[in-house]
Amino acid sequence: MLIGMSTNHVRIVEVGARDGLQNEKTLLPADVKIALIDRLSSTGLKTIEATSFVSPKWVPQLADAAEVFQGIRKLPGVSYPVLVPNEQGYERARAVGVSEIAIFTAASEAFNRKNINASIDESIERFLPVMVRAKQDGVKVRGYVSTVLGCPYQGEVPVHEVVRVARRLHEVGCYEVSLGDTIGIGTPAKARAMLKAVAQEVPMSALAVHFHDTYGQALANILACLEEGVRVVDSAVSGTGGCPYAKGATGNVASEDVVYMLHGLGMETGIDLDILVATGAWLAGQLHKETASRVTRARTAA
Ligand code: HMG
Ligand code: MG
Repeated sequence: MLIGMSTNHVRIVEVGARDGLQNEKTLLPADVKIALIDRLSSTGLKTIEATSFVSPKWVPQLADAAEVFQGIRKLPGVSYPVLVPNEQGYERARAVGVSEIAIFTAASEAFNRKNINASIDESIERFLPVMVRAKQDGVKVRGYVSTVLGCPYQGEVPVHEVVRVARRLHEVGCYEVSLGDTIGIGTPAKARAMLKAVAQEVPMSALAVHFHDTYGQALANILACLEEGVRVVDSAVSGTGGCPYAKGATGNVASEDVVYMLHGLGMETGIDLDILVATGAWLAGQLHKETASRVTRARTAA
């Protein structure tokens, strides 16, 4: 069944090893992170965010980024992007052979200040030298806009700010811009309207959606955005994570649940759900917590 007007194929960007683990209380050793990414590689996923070369003082959970990136088995045809906040992060990433990065900013000034200690415009300025070097080096760059449906500090985020920041990231050379509901408060009509507004300025084929599931709206939001034509969805196996700057915020929508919904809709992902479920159950065990994926809970119930 076709939803919206574009292709039936949806690319999942698996962000669990980065967005998930950066917010978990349990610090996993590098070899477990490497095992996680290797397992994810065997599911058929084509994009697996591996780690983050941010300041280890800000995110100690991912201080072992270089070791993890060097340790993973890189399958041909699979991308392993990493987060980079500045030139220092770019250099650390390139030193271990990274060939795709993600830069990140927000549609809310207050959130950006807490997250990367810069205003929105300063942060984009800070990325410009990274973009120049990435172009010279043939490194692909993805961009994230956070707080697209609300901010833990300023509350409402005007859609025109989301549009402005997304357009700017696309203009400076991001091949894809991921729209993040960082604290998971959006609802479907709002998500659809936001996506529609951004798609007036950035082609839909260059957009992705990134929902956290705090209020249990993520699958409904994704469905609304699929109907609008988006075909790239970020998610995290086992629904790990949270947001250090938003009380009560939970992790990304679980990849298992997204894949189950997409396959049920007759859409195709290239992902083996059984292997993904086994990976999610294994990760929950490593983190000593119950999985946040409803599909994994159902499939692994005794
Ligand atoms: P700052 O403190 O303003 O930076 O932080 P600074 O340039 O003054 O540097 C301070 C210290 O950090 C210095 O060390 C630097 O060397 C070091 P010192 O001299 O004090 O010993 N440093 C670094 N070390 C290693 N790697 C680096 C690096 N940069 C500086 N790359 C900074 C500014 C951007 C660095 C900091 O705020 C930071 O790292 N923030 C990252 C926060 C983060 O990772 N947040 C989560 C990711 S975003 C997200 O999850 C949202 C998303 O999922 C989408 C959504 O859900 O909305 C993407
Ligand atoms: Mg996120």
